[in-house]
Amino acid sequence: MVCLGNICRSPLAEGILKSKVDPDKVQVDSAGTGGWHVGERPDPRSIAIARKMGLDITDQRGRKFSTYDFEQYDHIFVMDNSNYRDVVRLANDDSDRAKVKMILNEIFPGENVDVPDPYYGGDQGFENVYNMLDEACEKIVSWL
Ligand code: 4NP
Repeated sequence: MVCLGNICRSPLAEGILKSKVDPDKVQVDSAGTGGWHVGERPDPRSIAIARKMGLDITDQRGRKFSTYDFEQYDHIFVMDNSNYRDVVRLANDDSDRAKVKMILNEIFPGENVDVPDPYYGGDQGFENVYNMLDEACEKIVSWL
């Protein structure tokens, strides 16, 4: 799960998908394309909405996406078009590029809709993001 800062959207996506899969079978992680928040906990507003929905994401720490992630993971879900460009730029070949998917294409196939960045908004933005990621992650587990 990849976003820009790895403190708002992708930590929620990581927590939500983890809660829906068998950890012995599926490894889930998140990262940011930017490095400003490496080592930090998720944004308090992401922690709060996750907690309200019954998930604890406080043990997550920010990290930056790297080319090594293409070796480690079969699927790379990005939150928006800007993340998509940044991640694809780091791909080594077509096989890497094919792993990168817009997460909301799970619910709006082919539309390339962004998960809006809630960083500069209020708490409602985080709840909206949570709900769209929850729906997308349900779709992911249905085919995974
Ligand atoms: P995220 O939100 O990409 O959903 O984690 C952001 C968090 C921080 C910044 C940008 C986006 N920032 O510029 O610090």
